[in-house]
Amino acid sequence: MALNMLEKPMEKASSASFMVFIKELNATKTGKLASFNFFLAVFIILWGAWVRLSGSGAGCGEHWPLCHGEVVPLAPSLQTLIEFTHRVTSGIFGFTVLGQVIFAAKEFGKGHLQFKGSLVFLILTVVEALIGAVLVKKGLVVDNDSAMRAWVIGAHLVNTLLLMGSLTLCLFVHKAHASYSWTHGFRKEKLLSGLGLTLFLLVGAFGAITALGNTLFPSDSLIQGLASDFDPQAPFLIRLRIYHPALAILMAALWLGLLIKWRESYRENHEPNFYGLSFVLIFIAIAFGALNWLLMAPVWGALVHLLLGDLLWVSLLLSVFTRFYQTSVKQN
Ligand code: HEM
Repeated sequence: MALNMLEKPMEKASSASFMVFIKELNATKTGKLASFNFFLAVFIILWGAWVRLSGSGAGCGEHWPLCHGEVVPLAPSLQTLIEFTHRVTSGIFGFTVLGQVIFAAKEFGKGHLQFKGSLVFLILTVVEALIGAVLVKKGLVVDNDSAMRAWVIGAHLVNTLLLMGSLTLCLFVHKAHASYSWTHGFRKEKLLSGLGLTLFLLVGAFGAITALGNTLFPSDSLIQGLASDFDPQAPFLIRLRIYHPALAILMAALWLGLLIKWRESYRENHEPNFYGLSFVLIFIAIAFGALNWLLMAPVWGALVHLLLGDLLWVSLLLSVFTRFYQTSVKQN
């Protein structure tokens, strides 16, 4: 009992600071819309993966933005419905992201980091749509196994992560009456964080290539899959598969080192403990990656793995921002 009482306050303080963060975030229209955009973005990312997993990439033919030359397909097949839903939700997303920029300009002002972050978020959303258009227009869908598709799909995933990164910054800088500045010093830590984030982008790009290889050249068994990873005659998409887990383990080790250091210096100063969250998520993401590989990536496994990867990315960025941004509240 006594031990429980000693343990509780820290736990409570930590979850209370998460609640405060969410409450403050939802205090402005911009913050509310940014939260909505976060959930919509995650939904669209997962749905986009399902487009690939269900072979629906050509569900609208080689037409973009129209679907089979129509605004709304009248007699859609299941694949058309899946691809069309992806396009409609992405289209709605375009408007809600634009709405976030307009709200940010009004509520925060154009000099605030919230506005700048929202603007970058809008630009990356447009780039995302253009990459999607390249995939469709160039026929880089369904059973296309060209090197060009591998490049474009890798770039698509990197852009998705950057887009989520700019949105995460908007979630972080949610106080209209505060200014945020990058702290001086910590040069080594900043360099290592930059390296960790770059490695994460590479893990994502190679993950997308791995997923494509698995979809186009499914293995009969785990052993056969492993053998083909090292077979010089295997398609290049299969031979590239090994880089994804190797880079993931390297990236995870680097982040664990940094987070352990940051957790030691963490004091409960009303900031949510993103270091602790990231720390736990790294273990879950790596363990689930291994499980997904052992199970030969069933559809649900691939979707959960992607979700965990995105949540880890957001959590790591929130850790970096907590570590390196100084918040000062402006006096009126
Ligand atoms: C924290 C580290 C990791 C991150 C952030 C990560 C991220 C990703 C991403 C973004 C994809 C692409 C998903 C898609 O486009 O649908 C992917 C695919 C994949 N990853 Fe990871 N991954 C990690 C660790 C691992 C590990 C350790 C393994 C174990 C071997 C692994 C195995 C796989 C497999 C098999 C796929 C292909 C899934 C499919 O066929 O759809 N991952 N990963």
